[in-house]
Amino acid sequence: MLTTLSISINQVARSRRDEVDFQNLVFGRTFSDHMLMAEFRDGQWQNVSIRPYGPLSFSPALMGLHYGQSIFEGMKAYRTIANQVVLFRPEENARRLNRSAQRMCMPELPEEIFIEGLRQLVALDKEWVPEAEGAALYLRPLMFASDEYVGLRPSENYTFLVMASPVAAYYAEPVRVKIETHYVRASPGGTGAAKTAGNYAASMHPARLAQQEGYHQLIWTDALTHQFVEEAGTMNVMFKIGGKIITAPTGDTILAGITRKSILQLARAWGYPLEERPLAVAEVIEAAQNTQLEEAFGVGTAAMISPIALIGYEGQHYPLAPLQKDSFALRAKQYLIDLCKGREADTFGWLTEV
Ligand SMILES: Cc1ncc(COP(=O)(O)O)c(C=O)c1O
Repeated sequence: MLTTLSISINQVARSRRDEVDFQNLVFGRTFSDHMLMAEFRDGQWQNVSIRPYGPLSFSPALMGLHYGQSIFEGMKAYRTIANQVVLFRPEENARRLNRSAQRMCMPELPEEIFIEGLRQLVALDKEWVPEAEGAALYLRPLMFASDEYVGLRPSENYTFLVMASPVAAYYAEPVRVKIETHYVRASPGGTGAAKTAGNYAASMHPARLAQQEGYHQLIWTDALTHQFVEEAGTMNVMFKIGGKIITAPTGDTILAGITRKSILQLARAWGYPLEERPLAVAEVIEAAQNTQLEEAFGVGTAAMISPIALIGYEGQHYPLAPLQKDSFALRAKQYLIDLCKGREADTFGWLTEV
């Protein structure tokens, strides 16, 4: 991309790369040498820089901490077998960040700062993109209110950051999920479609209660009736019932996942019958009882696809047969892995080379 954007770069004197055990990466614990940063001041984004990753200092009155104007993204850079580094659909993350910004009364970030900033950050830290099958450099864009002021109003200043963390392949064990019928993640008119900190904070207590009951994760249902399936933990959720792939439509209660969008595009391209429609819990349970529930899986950046092994609903357990290699979910997962490794041609134009 030709760019007019000027990014000041302050490189580390010595990389920490050699101190990291790439065979034993723990998700989200290790950060690369650099981070991208930009500031919103006087009504515009400025001071776009790449600098050594490290602590920032703030006043205790930082507005983002008090009132939760804080949004983020999650995405990955992969190393192909030809040793190129690619980003998966970064323009989708840029757009979603800006939809989150609108909802949270925060300034939009020009797409060029997002994409070009990421490209330059990943190019500088490309030795941090792991090589192993399924491993990646996880990228975490973050924007937060940086006024130092205690009083409720939208902040006037904001900070945008991107940090990068090498992660191992996510061996998604088939998960046990509980259909939640008391707590809610998102309600109509609320912030569920925004990737904002408070949504995750509010989900922790109910998720912990489910873990204490032996589940890995919750399936969230609609706030008003608890009769319709929405999302699974921090993933979108899909079911294959009687040959059809079914998933809830995105709206203001469901995060529009980029993995979800990609997998639906694959399903269409491969000719699977597909329905994006409200899906009743009763329909899932009935299908589980009469063996029509062929596949159930979460979809999201962290694991790509996470098969569901058991559904808990109102104290009853509904186990599912393990996914077969020719299942839609495992075919789609393999396709995405092969695409990001450069073994599949990028026919959908989903990859951006760094
Ligand atoms: C609530 C929620 N739903 C769905 C997703 C999946 O989105 P994506 O596929 O873009 O990672 C995520 C993860 O970002 C999430 O946090």
